[in-house]
This record gives sequence, C-alpha cells and structure tokens, in this order.
Amino acid sequence: MSNELTRILFVCTGNICRSPLAEAVLRSELERRGVESRFEVDSAGTDAYHVGEPADPRMRSVARRHGIDIRTRSRRVTRADLDAYDYVFAMDAGHYRALRHGVRDESTEEKIVMFRAHDPEVNDRHFPDVPDPWYGGIDGFERVYEIVSRTCVRIADELVNGAND
Ligand code: 4NP
Repeated sequence: MSNELTRILFVCTGNICRSPLAEAVLRSELERRGVESRFEVDSAGTDAYHVGEPADPRMRSVARRHGIDIRTRSRRVTRADLDAYDYVFAMDAGHYRALRHGVRDESTEEKIVMFRAHDPEVNDRHFPDVPDPWYGGIDGFERVYEIVSRTCVRIADELVNGAND
C-alpha cells in the first residue's frame, strides 16, 4: 500500500460556486469515511475575475443548510496543476475544453474528466454540465447542490474502492 497522496482538483469558471462546493462536499465525504489524510482536494477557476474572493454567499448559504462549510478563496487553474493533480474534474464542457486545450500528452489528457461522468443519475455517454448558477435564483444553487452532492458521494466511493477510472 502506498503512502502517496491522491490529488483531486475541481475546476469551474469563477471558482466561487460549483468547484468550491465540490471540493467541500468531497472532503466531507472522505472525512466521513475516515480516509481524508490519503487525499488532497482543491478547486480552481478557468477565469480570473474573482481571484482572492471567498465563495459566493448564495452558494455558501445553500451548502451550510446541508451541513457543508465552504472556506475557499478563488484561484485560477494553472498548467502546473495539470501535472500536480491526479484527477482534474471539469464541471462543464467549456471547462473540459479549456483544460484540454494545448495538452499533448496522453497521461495528462486522461486526468481531465467531466465531473458528471460520475453522476449516478447519468446513464448516457454524453455527460451534462453542472449548470452555471451565477445569473439565476437560489433554486439554481439548490439544483447545483443536489448534482454535486450525489456525484461527490459516488466519487468518494470510487476513490476509496479504487474503482475510479
Ligand atoms: P462558478 O460560477 O464557475 O461555478 O464559480 C460562476 C461565477 C462567476 C462567473 C461565472 C460563473 N462570472 O462570470 O463572473
């Protein structure tokens, strides 16, 4: 058994709504399983508009109602992240394209996956986006919570059982 950390990165646009929620939910699921010391979990954004800011208050408030505390500050994803992390989850197809852009080696390409490829309610090979909640109402944030929550439960199970390909 290896003592190496498995590193997981979630990526969205602003790193203030979807990916910080996924980071916090996955960390909570790993803690619930008592395996958090084996993992490093982080999130980042493709865009720099909100760098240094805490997560959106609407996202934090919905998460808090579900017992999840989001404590991140926004940062932009870097090329170096693609080397450092073992799994890079794109929250939507735009992030997936942005992350894959310019990547030439297969091993890096394989790390970048659509988040909802792990959604237990998606049975299709066409993986839907986690919808961007930024311009909409609070119900959009609730919807994001539902998707992210069930998908992170599945990802945690896969990581712990080693069936995470
Ligand atoms: P996120 O949501 O990508 O889930 O953090 C967004 C936050 C900000 C913007 C877009 C999406 N924005 O255009 O500023």
